[in-house]
Amino acid sequence: MVFLGPPGSGKGTQAKKLSQELGLMHISTGDILRDAVKNQTELGKKAKEYMDRGELVPDNLMIALIEEVMPKEGGFILDGFPRTVPQALALEEMLRGYKRDVDKVFLFDLSEEVVVERLSGRLTCSQCGAVYHRKYNPPKQEGVCDLCGGKLIQREDDKEEVVRRRYRVYKEQTSPLVEFYQKKNKLIRLDASQDIQEVNKRLLEVLRDGH
Ligand code: AP5
Repeated sequence: MVFLGPPGSGKGTQAKKLSQELGLMHISTGDILRDAVKNQTELGKKAKEYMDRGELVPDNLMIALIEEVMPKEGGFILDGFPRTVPQALALEEMLRGYKRDVDKVFLFDLSEEVVVERLSGRLTCSQCGAVYHRKYNPPKQEGVCDLCGGKLIQREDDKEEVVRRRYRVYKEQTSPLVEFYQKKNKLIRLDASQDIQEVNKRLLEVLRDGH
């Protein structure tokens, strides 16, 4: 499965939930990159400047990364990949090599104004990466992760001007994938403005009934 959608549309929140509910592997390119930046690996050093500016990391780096982490069997959710047409073509080719294919692509539909509101309230655990929202999904204790007790912080790229740039980059470089997957009859639109439980319910419904 592929989760596609603008920044802050809830892809990560739903991917974490669904992967637990259905025993699927969750591959978030954003999380992998943030780990690489934190650990100052070669990839992290190359990716950091793009991420801080709210731009996409070059396709060749991202494709090599996915090649490395993609499991050869079992179901998985790709959260944040592909994000460009060349990435989608590379994914097709990789999967073909294992006689597999993308099953469904969920499009998380959300307007720019809601994106900005969601991301300005997002809190992320500095240790385990768990995601909260000041208003919509608050931690039990202010500033502390429910899961690991880590400190909650605001992501560098969640400042309003960077969020608006990320949204623009999504529109220009990622949204052509909507048509790409529509033509292949794989695209399913989700109303991502619903609350977290509703979106999860809808995802499970589509996976159960196929539509
Ligand atoms: P990445 O981390 O993938 O960022 P993103 O796609 O911009 O997505 P986000 O993580 O910001 O949002 P999300 O949709 O997961 O929403 P979330 O669930 O957290 O990528 C970061 C950077 O890495 C990119 O800018 C780029 O530089 C680079 N990168 C990554 N992949 C790449 C690729 N393939 N190619 C090139 N570069 C790449 O939710 C957001 C907030 O809303 C949270 O606070 C949450 O609690 C809340 N919330 C969630 N759902 C709801 C709901 N239904 N109602 C109310 N609140 C909600």
